[in-house]
Amino acid sequence: VPGDGAVFVLVDETVSRTWGHTFNAEWSASDRCSTYVLTARESSKSIATLGDITAWLLAGGADNASTLVAVGGGVVGNIATMAASLTLRGCRLIHVPTTLIAQVDSAVDVKGSVNHAGVKNALGVIHPPDAVVVDPQFLMTLDRSHLLSGYGEILKHGLIQDPDFARWAAHTPLRDPVALRAVIRHTLGLKTQHYDAIVGKWDERRHERLLTHAGHVVAKACEVLRLDALPHGIAVAHGLVVETAVAQLRGLAEPSTLALTIQLLGARGLLTTMLEGIRDEALVAQVFRGRPTVSMALMTAPGAGTAETEVTAEELRAGLQLTRCLLREA
Ligand SMILES: NC(=O)c1ccc[n+]([C@@H]2O[C@H](COP(=O)([O-])OP(=O)(O)OC[C@H]3O[C@@H](n4cnc5c(N)ncnc54)[C@H](O)[C@@H]3O)[C@@H](O)[C@H]2O)c1
Repeated sequence: VPGDGAVFVLVDETVSRTWGHTFNAEWSASDRCSTYVLTARESSKSIATLGDITAWLLAGGADNASTLVAVGGGVVGNIATMAASLTLRGCRLIHVPTTLIAQVDSAVDVKGSVNHAGVKNALGVIHPPDAVVVDPQFLMTLDRSHLLSGYGEILKHGLIQDPDFARWAAHTPLRDPVALRAVIRHTLGLKTQHYDAIVGKWDERRHERLLTHAGHVVAKACEVLRLDALPHGIAVAHGLVVETAVAQLRGLAEPSTLALTIQLLGARGLLTTMLEGIRDEALVAQVFRGRPTVSMALMTAPGAGTAETEVTAEELRAGLQLTRCLLREA
């Protein structure tokens, strides 16, 4: 960690247990370094946990020269970003992502958030990290469902920005280190292209800014309804299918777009029985929360990005029905 400020390591409890032998001794020996072990659950992304972490930083003498190092998945990374942004109005932040979704998405991002009042990511900040260290070796101990979850975001990027890559990434060996390295590198390239297009152009490039939101309106609602039971990327995969079904019914996307989406996400093992555990009306109520319409970034064709559109509850119901019907046939 550069500089001579204090180093605060916020580490995922499973990662500390599984990988601690590679770093615990060095951290304990350093007089610059203190450690906080967090049990990562979606329910840990809360104001209460944020309060505990910021209290630990302040009690340890954190100042603006201090660095918070987040070692873990998206939960640790999201809450660390909040803590780094808020503590004394900002300290340095380094991400060491240890899940696939964090390596390709949440850690190479500028957003931090916690859930609040029953709303996923309700409170958030923009606080870019000073560095991100991606080591695919961590993924060798990740369970299958969280590896698949990473592929939900990877295939979303592929479908929207680079369909040939999506066709390839849907069929790579799941835990092969060489394939993982190539998939991560390519997805980071797609994500960087996206950021290069929007950085500093937050308002006039709203269309591009929304690119990565495809599938996320429905995914967020599913996650709230099945809190802690549903890895994020699996929710995104289903959200992408439902929202593309809405696009098809609207006449914005050809049936072949939805067919390819289902084919590739299904081939990767991402389309599970998840929607069977969720009632349409509960999902619609969670998406709209009393509003007449919601804004969605809909995929219009493979590789063609998204169109921002106001969607009604009736359209979402129809999209859900079409999705359930097609998933039963697949
Ligand atoms: N742009 C963004 O900010 C963004 C993007 C995507 C996801 N997210 C957020 O990220 C969260 C999901 O991230 P996640 O799936 O990484 O969840 P997570 O942090 O809960 O990690 C998933 C599980 O894997 C375990 N784990 C982590 N690293 C491991 C390793 N190397 N070996 C074995 N087990 C390991 C954790 O203990 C946890 O049980 C959600 O809250 C989502 O909203 C944010």
